[in-house]
Amino acid sequence: HSGVACHLIKPDGVLRNLTAEVINRFTRKGFKLVGLKMVTPSKEHLEKHYADLSSKGFFASLIEYMQSGPVVAMVWEGDNAVKTGRVMLGATHPKDSAPGTLRADFAIDIGRNCFHGSDSVESAKAEIALWFPEGVNSYKHPL
Ligand code: CMP
Repeated sequence: HSGVACHLIKPDGVLRNLTAEVINRFTRKGFKLVGLKMVTPSKEHLEKHYADLSSKGFFASLIEYMQSGPVVAMVWEGDNAVKTGRVMLGATHPKDSAPGTLRADFAIDIGRNCFHGSDSVESAKAEIALWFPEGVNSYKHPL
């Protein structure tokens, strides 16, 4: 494989039962799920995850939103996992995301956009280390 990406189903996505939809889309596309967990992240954990946004006016509300319930964290493996994952998630603001993408199909509000995806290979690495410090489960398909 030539890539891994870390994606999150945010609390609003979990509450709206979108977990299966997301896993189904990425699996059908051909990506391999090598990390999966449900967590209720601490404030400190989220401040690390969103460290690059700490100067933004919406930072506090973003952290609060991300703590409003459990989050599903996933690691997907496959060619161009980050780039293709971003295409499948759609633009951050649901008003700009293309029809058929997850955010276009399931979200309206940028502050409640249901999903997070790694935005670069470097941030994917950092996010996997943060959300899966125990490591992921790489395996070969028997076929
Ligand atoms: P995400 O892909 O998790 O990356 C950063 C997050 O910040 C983004 O999705 C949104 O949830 C949030 N965000 C970005 N811009 C804004 C904004 N203008 N107002 C509120 N939240 C925002």
